[in-house]
Amino acid sequence: MSVNWALPFDEKIVPENKRTLIPIESYQKLHKNTVANYREFWAGVASELDWFKRWDRILDDSNPPFYKWFPGGQLNASYLCLDRHIHTWRKNKLAIIWEGEPTENGAPTKIRKLTYQDLYRDVNRISYVLREKYGIRKGDTIGFYLPMIPEFPIFMLAAARLGACFTVIFSGFSADSLADRLVDADAKLLVTADGGRRRGNLIKLKEVADKASEKAACVKKIIVVRHTGNDVSMNRDRDAFLDDILEETPETVYVEPEPVRSEDPLYILHTSGTTGRPKGQVHDTGGYLTLLHATMRWVFDARDDDVYWCTADIGWVTGHSYIVFGPLMEGMTGLMYEGALEYPEPDRWVSIIERHGVNVLYTSPTAIRSFMKNGEEWVKKHDTSSVRLMHSVGEPINPEAFRWMHRHVGRDKIPFGSTWWMTETGGILVSHTPGLYMVPMKPGTNGLAILGIDADVVDDDGKGQKSLERGYLVIRNPWPGMPLTIHKDPDRYREVYWIKFPGSFYPGDYAVRDDDGYFWILGRADEVIKVAGHRLGTYELESALIQHRAVAEAAAVAVPDKLKGEVPVAFVILRAGQAPSEQLGRELNDWVREKVGPIASLKQIFFVSKLPKTRSAKIMRRVVQAVVAGKPIGDVTTLEDEASVDEVNRAFLDLKQEIESRTASRE
Ligand code: WT7
Repeated sequence: MSVNWALPFDEKIVPENKRTLIPIESYQKLHKNTVANYREFWAGVASELDWFKRWDRILDDSNPPFYKWFPGGQLNASYLCLDRHIHTWRKNKLAIIWEGEPTENGAPTKIRKLTYQDLYRDVNRISYVLREKYGIRKGDTIGFYLPMIPEFPIFMLAAARLGACFTVIFSGFSADSLADRLVDADAKLLVTADGGRRRGNLIKLKEVADKASEKAACVKKIIVVRHTGNDVSMNRDRDAFLDDILEETPETVYVEPEPVRSEDPLYILHTSGTTGRPKGQVHDTGGYLTLLHATMRWVFDARDDDVYWCTADIGWVTGHSYIVFGPLMEGMTGLMYEGALEYPEPDRWVSIIERHGVNVLYTSPTAIRSFMKNGEEWVKKHDTSSVRLMHSVGEPINPEAFRWMHRHVGRDKIPFGSTWWMTETGGILVSHTPGLYMVPMKPGTNGLAILGIDADVVDDDGKGQKSLERGYLVIRNPWPGMPLTIHKDPDRYREVYWIKFPGSFYPGDYAVRDDDGYFWILGRADEVIKVAGHRLGTYELESALIQHRAVAEAAAVAVPDKLKGEVPVAFVILRAGQAPSEQLGRELNDWVREKVGPIASLKQIFFVSKLPKTRSAKIMRRVVQAVVAGKPIGDVTTLEDEASVDEVNRAFLDLKQEIESRTASRE
């Protein structure tokens, strides 16, 4: 897949703040040095954190690709995010400003403000509850299925304080998806809420959690945060409301932060792919926090007088790294918003910027395209001049969306970049770094690799690709923040990321690099679908479909979407005796949403009699995709392994004909 727009390689935009601007050659020279000495370089960054015990070695590379950063070192994430600050003037500084979604007469009904001292007190209390009442210890895993409320980071930090591991499941996932992830992570405790709010709707999280725990036998207890106040059914032996528990808990308690080894897991977070179950990415503590510390300063230019807003949900990695651990470790004031950015009116997000004086904004191309669609009049209703720096993440940003956002919020002058990274990398690896040294921007580019990161674009043989030629993105050296492994499946970790280009990490993205060395990451080279910046595995969609009584076979592919970047469509072969109908199409769509979650909404379902397959019975998804996207087959024929050009062509024409005749017969 490559992007559907022209890449403006030659357009250079120089931000007005020239404090850190350097010629590109100087950056490249500096970058080269840090890559040549990447171990010492990262050790220098790591030594800026407070360690309980310093590491013995910088990197244990004795068993690649299972690298360990800073072995021998001991630290604690909750200590770094809290204890450090409360012994300084930051004690009474705001850590979190939270805004709820509902509004009354246009005014926000609820804003909660927590200082570092407040957060410290709450995290200690929750740690105490987890340890004393639930027996949570180092080595245990807790599952979190929560809406965007302050208790979310509080529980994450409380788990980390005890040295316990946690796993977050995004609140848009269904009971089945939740159960699968809880089982994979062996979570013994689940923390959820009575409900969440989005776009004015109540999301009944407890109901989903109940259903999931029927399947996830590992979950013995459930803590329920009262948030929306709706009635929920409680299982007396298993469930308890947090506020009831807290009534019996001392108001101020101190829980000693447990020293964990640098390579001890902080959390597991699942990503979806084209085959197999979701992969539980296991992140370490020392390396991960080192990368977050670096990128908070270099990429976001973290300053003490900033109000920083990352619009992601903590259910995804962006929220883990850049709502919770990154900004709190730097002692910043972070904004957390509960709901939809354009609810109840399209100017909600700009009103939030104005109300809280947001200085640093981190959002997504899908959000920006949606703002754009509503028109700049909505932006102009509010003063957004506090914003001094912006970044986007999740998918390639089209130059048009970049220019629009840079003009209407960035006043054509502030630094604005597109940070490339993924769940696996833990933090940002390719980005402009206005907090350190800035180079001119180009609409849509990701900028250069950050210091210490050896990124490259290679051809099929792993050789450096020529400038402006599409190839695969690779990361050549280990970096702090990399996964420890895939939970319970180390072989898969090796196979997915380290086999294609031996010795290098392969993220699965296409990329080009221009003559100045800027990266343009173009999208997935595998068949993973990206909906609004979130990875959606074709595997999950297809296995949901074939669980339906009417379905024999299914293939899910991505089609381009103006707003969300990509959306999934499905091709379905029905079982004998089943007839295609619009009604069945709707039923299947509801079925998939029920099985995978509301994020898995199919744009269209095509009923077909056969699917193009290779000789070894693999579905030729690229052929399917070319048909539905109305693309010529030329590009695809060489991409399908295990099938001749003739076979691919024939399959393409067959499928196309069938689709066209069906459409014609309906008209
Ligand atoms: C995939 C990772 C990192 C948090 C959000 C997504 C794509 C991410 C960019 C960007 C072009 C991007 C890649 C990557 N991606 N950021 N700035 N420009 N593509 O995390 O769900 O793990 O997805 O998102 O395709 O592989 P994720």
